[in-house]
Amino acid sequence: MSSSDDTRLSVALVDLDPGHDADFQTLTTAFAAILIAKNYGRAEVIRDEALPDRYYAVRHWTDAKAAEQCHADPDVQAITAKLYQIARVTHVVNGVRKAEQLRLLLDDRRARVEADRRTGFDRRVRDVGSPTGTERRSGRDRRLGPRRLRDRPGPVDLVEAARRAREFADAGYSHFRVGAALEAADGTVVTGCNIENATYGLTVCAERVAMFKALSDGHRAFTRIAVVADTEAPTPPCGACRQILWEFGGNLEVVLANLKEEKGHHQLKDLLPLPFDARLL
Ligand code: THU
Repeated sequence: MSSSDDTRLSVALVDLDPGHDADFQTLTTAFAAILIAKNYGRAEVIRDEALPDRYYAVRHWTDAKAAEQCHADPDVQAITAKLYQIARVTHVVNGVRKAEQLRLLLDDRRARVEADRRTGFDRRVRDVGSPTGTERRSGRDRRLGPRRLRDRPGPVDLVEAARRAREFADAGYSHFRVGAALEAADGTVVTGCNIENATYGLTVCAERVAMFKALSDGHRAFTRIAVVADTEAPTPPCGACRQILWEFGGNLEVVLANLKEEKGHHQLKDLLPLPFDARLL
């Protein structure tokens, strides 16, 4: 994959909720037709032969401007919104985004190929030697090169991120501390904790803090949220949070946990049946 400005290809992983093949077919046909009619480019859907509900949605853009127009097109956004209700979409290649240092670093981390200290430019210029004694990093502090990173266990531990976020909860009135960790489609994890207020009513839950933080950082597509409280019974999002999560995150996977263990997995559509949303306006 090239990150040059000439790249004009986007690829997304689409993990379809079982039983939605026909809906998916309808959406992809409509999407492909729009791309051609409006000269945005060409769309292609490839089915993963090993995983029955996984597809690769490939878009070949006419040019960067066409891709941007396509993303802003209300007809396309309507299709995308529907897709998010029946599938988990992870953008793996964004051919339009300009090469940007921070973003590249995040993407590298997603691919678990972090910069290796041994390839550092200044190390090649001047050998500064290895730290010794107490200066030497050990245990969790050790810097990781690609080979060690490859051995790391699976994807981000969203529950653990929510547990850490809970530590920052400002819950002086209820003493009920909650942490949330929201995963954006590009793999970024944005956390939140509940923040209470002397008027009580202005309290904001952990889930909404996470979502608003993520939106304000420019994220617009999400895959999962973990919610953690220190209770035996799981703490599901309140009604207000379900509404906000649905509006901006669609059919998210909701993972509930306490400080010791996971307590349940839900799809947001099951927690918010018959939702009110923009389709009804
Ligand atoms: N709270 C959350 O942050 N998330 C939930 O899912 C349930 C409730 C917070 C709001 C308030 O600060 C405290 O928990 C007690 O309701």
